[in-house]
Amino acid sequence: MADQGLNIQKDPHAQQCLIAQISDPHIKAGGKLSYRQVDTASALRKAISKLNQLAPRPDLVLISGDLVDFGHPDEYATFKQLLADLTLPVYLIPGNHDDRQHLRHAFPEHRYLFQHRDYLQWVVDDYPVRLIGLDSSVPDKPHGKLSDESLEWLDTTLTEQPDKPTLVMVHHHPFVSGIDHMDRQPLKRPEALADVIGKHPQIERVLCGHLHRSIQARFANTLVISCPGVSHQVSLDLTPDGPAHFQLEPPGYLLHQWSAANGMVTHQGFIDPYSGPFPFYDANGLID
Ligand SMILES: [Fe+2]
Repeated sequence: MADQGLNIQKDPHAQQCLIAQISDPHIKAGGKLSYRQVDTASALRKAISKLNQLAPRPDLVLISGDLVDFGHPDEYATFKQLLADLTLPVYLIPGNHDDRQHLRHAFPEHRYLFQHRDYLQWVVDDYPVRLIGLDSSVPDKPHGKLSDESLEWLDTTLTEQPDKPTLVMVHHHPFVSGIDHMDRQPLKRPEALADVIGKHPQIERVLCGHLHRSIQARFANTLVISCPGVSHQVSLDLTPDGPAHFQLEPPGYLLHQWSAANGMVTHQGFIDPYSGPFPFYDANGLID
């Protein structure tokens, strides 16, 4: 019986794209621990090893900000050294812990970071999925903001290719997460971003970091998804006025799998070792 009506991709040559995302590596220099607890360099090393071994291989990796911990040049030098082991193309945006000029200075070969004079906002058209990175960092502030100019650029850029599936990446979350201390440092004026995003139905996801855990919400007729931290996670504490705590839950990554036939599907994976895989079936069928 023909399977028309089932939305299953049959053509292996059909357009597809596999996009990995990690976030918030918070790299420090000289082996220093973040918050005197977290070996972020070691955590990023493990994440890179995991990404390099993924099968099928991702087409690219996105890193959604807080690349280093205090924006210092020596931290970017360490981050770059660690990133050299990644065997996949990688695209960066800044977070509130980053410094625009020091980041650019460390990565002159990342030409997309130089598309705008002031902001590290960019568009990359080299893949079946269009990638747009936004710069929500505000120097010396924990919250995020997008300027009117950046929002106008986003609107214009999205208008150029209304039919191409698109990911928009921004560090700060444009929604209320319920984690109180993080919601005091969100993306300010989220409604201004929502006004632009809502006009462009080709946007498959808005991807953010900052929250250091996987959270999904509806946003302006699309989904916003925050990526788990690559080292430490913000504590899942929904009590009002909960303390600003983190914990060493298993770190993770996201895989955004897009195909022309099936659209975008997002998976979460974990970086640290775990047991398995084990079979469901043996020679007698489902194992009892
Ligand atoms: Fe962070």
